[in-house]
Amino acid sequence: MAIGVAVPAGRSAKSILKSVERQAIVNRHFSQLTAENIMKPSYLHPAENRFYFDDADALVEYAASQGKTVHGHTLIWHYGLPNWMNDFTGDTAAWTAMMTDHITEIMSHFAAEDIVVSWDVVNEAIADIDNDENGLNDLRNSIWQDNIGAGYLAAAFRAAHAADPNADLYYNDYNIAGVPAKRNAVLDLVKQFQEDPNPVPIHGIGFQMHISVTWPDIDQIRESFALAASTGLKVKISELDIAMNTDRSRKPMSLTEFTVAVAVQQQKRYEAIVAAYMDEVPEAQRGGISVWGITDRDSWQRSYNAHEWPLLFDDDLKPKPALQGFADGLTGGM
Ligand code: XIL
Repeated sequence: MAIGVAVPAGRSAKSILKSVERQAIVNRHFSQLTAENIMKPSYLHPAENRFYFDDADALVEYAASQGKTVHGHTLIWHYGLPNWMNDFTGDTAAWTAMMTDHITEIMSHFAAEDIVVSWDVVNEAIADIDNDENGLNDLRNSIWQDNIGAGYLAAAFRAAHAADPNADLYYNDYNIAGVPAKRNAVLDLVKQFQEDPNPVPIHGIGFQMHISVTWPDIDQIRESFALAASTGLKVKISELDIAMNTDRSRKPMSLTEFTVAVAVQQQKRYEAIVAAYMDEVPEAQRGGISVWGITDRDSWQRSYNAHEWPLLFDDDLKPKPALQGFADGLTGGM
């Protein structure tokens, strides 16, 4: 099973390619990399007729040289888009052609090497609200939804499969472990894909899992993993981090220091999450578990809260008790 980590790369000062300390951690503890930012649409497709692969190629080469795979993140999203895409004009056919070309060019570029083994084809397409109160959260407004309609999802997966028939194709989203109406909307989407007379190629559901030490409840998480597994698709924890001091509206809470007691709480929470995944997802369906960053120092959560420690390695790049918790979860499962 892949154990992955999101890494900074490209021009970032924290780039894995420039940091031997970070490389040492990645090489020892992880088998898969996700580019934290440099494989998003704005990086790979900066102008309508121009793709920029140099930084991503360097990362993929690095992964290959270390015997690691790469999880591609992400092709179609409402965020992280280049300006030209946001400003694109045309009818439905023109928008579909533009989307298809975007997916095809990027996936074909990486297909031959077989290091990028999976992709988040569509990221965060479900909204956080259920306006029509049908028990399923609605599709999020985005340039894709607004210009192509709901059919953009199936079209994106079909284009992705045509471009790289060997890649595992994921639908990826946040809060789906803990918000039943959002989770159920994802399950409903998968069901529609599977029941289509011409089934839509999808291989996995990605649970981002930017969670906190208290939310979601572990029983809720287990139920969500089990329901996702019951689709027959792979299940991946794609962006795990566990906030210890940030509330759900991203406001800092009261801690100013990462105490031993807090570290132990986090260790137990990592263990519980990983064990839940191992228990609820059958081996053949385990797409793996990736954490969203190597060290607390680099975590995106620090941009909301300077006093946050969500990852497995501390500011000095030393392993935290959370790392042991993660490991114990892997072996303690079924
Ligand atoms: C975040 C990165 O970690 C940040 O560095 C960047 O500024 C914004 O994006 N869900 C996703 C990721 O799918 O792409 C996001 O990554 C975190 C939330």
